Amino acid sequence: MSSRALPVRPPQRLTVDPFVSIIGDIADKGWCVVDDFVSVKWAAGLREEQRQQSRGGAFRCAGVGRRDEYQLDAQTRGDRILWLDRGNALPAQQRYLTMLEELRQAVNRDLFLGLHTLEMHAANYPPGGFYRRHLDGFRNDNRRILTVILYLNPRWHASDGGALRLFLDAHPEGDFVDVPPESGRLVTFLSEGFHHEVRETRRLRSSITGWFSCRPLQ
Ligand code: OGA
Ligand code: MN
Repeated sequence: MSSRALPVRPPQRLTVDPFVSIIGDIADKGWCVVDDFVSVKWAAGLREEQRQQSRGGAFRCAGVGRRDEYQLDAQTRGDRILWLDRGNALPAQQRYLTMLEELRQAVNRDLFLGLHTLEMHAANYPPGGFYRRHLDGFRNDNRRILTVILYLNPRWHASDGGALRLFLDAHPEGDFVDVPPESGRLVTFLSEGFHHEVRETRRLRSSITGWFSCRPLQ
């Protein structure tokens, strides 16, 4: 099979409840792109908070693991991240955490996915940054079920690079969609169902990535 870039669905009308779109698409195909998940003003607030945190030195090079694995991580991804929770989130981020809690409950109610815990980080990819093809696997022994990514970059152009490439089947040469990280856009997908990568960006690329996991086994 040869690689084929599929078009991303055009932006939806604002009257469509984004939760309804997400739940429907996750049930049908396992992934979803919705635009205007947060308002322009809210996205600007999130972007500004992230800028403040970054200026204050709160972001760290992404990549966990033992020292001897660190070099490998640096070759895999080039973003800088800040883990966010109720303890350190700024006001617009707190509001976003609340929105994701509502999404968690709606998804559990309609799809019985058993989403329990949210891990979330802000991410900044500097120009030249990327994240090689991967699956969102495990962290802290929690099984990740649903990945939720919100982008914060207004007026993103194709020439800026930095698309999220979502591979629609496990075959390396299979179909994929490229999703530009435009401000207010939310991408959700089943964490273990889709390989994905961040194409090299030519411009600062900001996002907030969350993973919902089921309850730990013990
Ligand atoms: C990740 C990831 C994709 C993106 O952080 O695991 O795949 O588009 N991010 O930022
Ligand atoms: Mn990922």
